[in-house]
Amino acid sequence: MRKVLVIGIGAGNPDHLTMQAVRAMAGVDVFFIPDKGAEKGSLRQVREDICARVIPHSAWRSVGFSIPARPKVQDGYRTIVDDWHEAICDSYVRLIETELAEGQCGAFLVWGDPSLYDSTLRILDRVLARGVAVTYDVIPGITSVQALTAAHRIPLNRIGEPVLVTTGRKLGQGTQHDTVVMLDDGQALQRAAADPALRESYIYWGACLGTGQEMLVQGRLCDVAARIEAARQAVRTTNGWVMDVFLLRPRTEGG
Ligand SMILES: C[S@@+](CC[C@H](N)C(=O)[O-])C[C@H]1O[C@@H](n2cnc3c(N)ncnc32)[C@H](O)[C@@H]1O
Repeated sequence: MRKVLVIGIGAGNPDHLTMQAVRAMAGVDVFFIPDKGAEKGSLRQVREDICARVIPHSAWRSVGFSIPARPKVQDGYRTIVDDWHEAICDSYVRLIETELAEGQCGAFLVWGDPSLYDSTLRILDRVLARGVAVTYDVIPGITSVQALTAAHRIPLNRIGEPVLVTTGRKLGQGTQHDTVVMLDDGQALQRAAADPALRESYIYWGACLGTGQEMLVQGRLCDVAARIEAARQAVRTTNGWVMDVFLLRPRTEGG
């Protein structure tokens, strides 16, 4: 039987790799490295560098594969994502069937942790549903949320309180709780800064966490929103893209 490992590699710093991940990587024959276009080429390089750095032998190889661009979402979000996952599933099946010999082990190196805003596991379930003879296991990684809270030296939750983790697109839908926002293109932050219910919130923001370009800002949203926007633009100008995440703590009664 062929086997696949889905390995969380942490959110930017190669030192985020766990011992479990390092040990598992030494047993992988083929790493499947996604290529999401030129602007993300450096993320591909990070994965290649991690392999070269931690695997103590040379009996491994990597195979790139392209991820089709996701169509722009207007409406019918679920249908669009469903079709997109089906197309990626085609690539996974091809990789597993053509690049792995019987008994060999392949691996996907997933940014952060595979459980958080990542579809590798969902797509592998589609692969299994198609009857492909493969098993898979998951090795957890440090998420960007943990990288954010560690960088700011804060607990994620207030004592006994819940935390919502959501996307920029959904920020604002019932945000009376502390909320972590991921996958924002900057618009959610601007919306929150203009929203009377949120603009007094305290924000902990981080970009390029764990990398040499790490940027951190914290303060009342209405006070620091412009500074964050300027920092986002600066990173985007340098890299062509920016990955950032933030925790919003709405102001409480008397707080
Ligand atoms: C597709 S999600 C993947 C999340 C990942 N699985 C995790 O565990 O963090 C990508 C989003 O994660 C966040 N992110 C990932 N790495 C980051 C980093 N080094 N610095 C800031 N945000 C990061 C950003 O919100 C980005 O838009």
